[in-house]
Amino acid sequence: MKYSTLVILGLLLALAFAVEAKPKSKKQKNKQKQKEQVLPLAQPCRPENCKLPECRCSDATLPSSKFKGKESEIPQFVTITFDDAINAVNYAQYELLFDGLINPDGCSAAGTFFLSHEYTDYVRVNALYRAGHEIALHSVTHGDGTDYWRSADVATIEREFGAQMKMLKAFANVDPKDVHGMRLPFLQISGNNTFEAARRLGLSYDSSWPTQQFKDPAMWPYTLDYQSKQDCQIGPCPEASIPGLWVNPMVTWTDTEGYSCSMIDACVYPPEDNVDDLFDWMLENFNRHYEGSRAPFGMYLHAAWFSRGHSHFGAFKKFINHLNTYPDVYFTGISRMLEYVKRPVLGAPFKDCPELPEAECRAVQCHVQKLSTGEDRYMTVCDKCPSVYPWLENPLGEQR
Ligand SMILES: *[C@@H]1O[C@H](CO)[C@@H](O)[C@H](O)[C@H]1NC(C)=O
Ligand SMILES: [Zn+2]
Repeated sequence: MKYSTLVILGLLLALAFAVEAKPKSKKQKNKQKQKEQVLPLAQPCRPENCKLPECRCSDATLPSSKFKGKESEIPQFVTITFDDAINAVNYAQYELLFDGLINPDGCSAAGTFFLSHEYTDYVRVNALYRAGHEIALHSVTHGDGTDYWRSADVATIEREFGAQMKMLKAFANVDPKDVHGMRLPFLQISGNNTFEAARRLGLSYDSSWPTQQFKDPAMWPYTLDYQSKQDCQIGPCPEASIPGLWVNPMVTWTDTEGYSCSMIDACVYPPEDNVDDLFDWMLENFNRHYEGSRAPFGMYLHAAWFSRGHSHFGAFKKFINHLNTYPDVYFTGISRMLEYVKRPVLGAPFKDCPELPEAECRAVQCHVQKLSTGEDRYMTVCDKCPSVYPWLENPLGEQR
């Protein structure tokens, strides 16, 4: 340390002592900082105090008395989601999968893509976005394993998901106003922090929290204004009140041995690799929702599942084509489904089709360096290449 710096430090110290005879210890200061972050403890949910469209208690029924005995008129939502990077190979599968699927109201079927950054082809992201699919967040780095996410504080989560949002805007021309949700890598939430970060980022929902207890009847999405009744499978789960933030519970499937799986590709005992067995198994899981509470039916997976066996893609396609013949089954992104949950009706869920975003994209190929490792990275983005490989601290990949 330079002499002059020492003098200034000394002066500052003297000043501090002069102003306050008993200076605050570091511990006290930390305590004060923590105090600012203490969130209100969530109280038990009483439906009288928690009303749609802003608030919903965690349970398995839609609250309108008009719906009693008319469950079969509630539209059945099916939310297909894929996690991780989007590339040329899985994009081709996604295109094939949704090709020709039209919902009963004449609107295009859509899914949700929880996107992580590394190896993502942002031109393909743009194409999915413009085709009406929902683009959601799955972090920049995807983390090093569950420990990183289990212990992540609010700032870490905000940085990971906020940076991914900036990248989506810069490289795929996705309007941040159209980004509503997130899913944590490995479904590893970190209690209050995850949901508080989501709120600060202006997101409206998280979909990382599996439930085994509420699969029959299945749980509908709810808000975190009040205590959640949902079983905590991968803790820590939130205990604070985070008003207005929605949880889209990942209602688990049941595998052929009766075990629960939060994602289709996480089932330990899936059926044999043939179209009929896979199809029947999917239908069985679907019917628990369709013949039950009509809570949204989630089909959560990674594209890699299609490579598990020769029949996997065919069976999946056959199954969703089959559901597409139902007059009351709607394939939508999670945020559109939540719009319905906020204002539920019997019969057709929406008056209009969603407008497709205008987000022109001129594809450019970039060859940039990942500074942290010195590796080369090829990247396909809209309009303009970054100078270096975008990463957490430099999401736009600017020359520093
Ligand atoms: C979450 O917030 C509540 C309310 O402030 C608090 O009681 C609880 O200890 C917090 N949980 C964690 C893991 O910090
Ligand atoms: Zn992932």
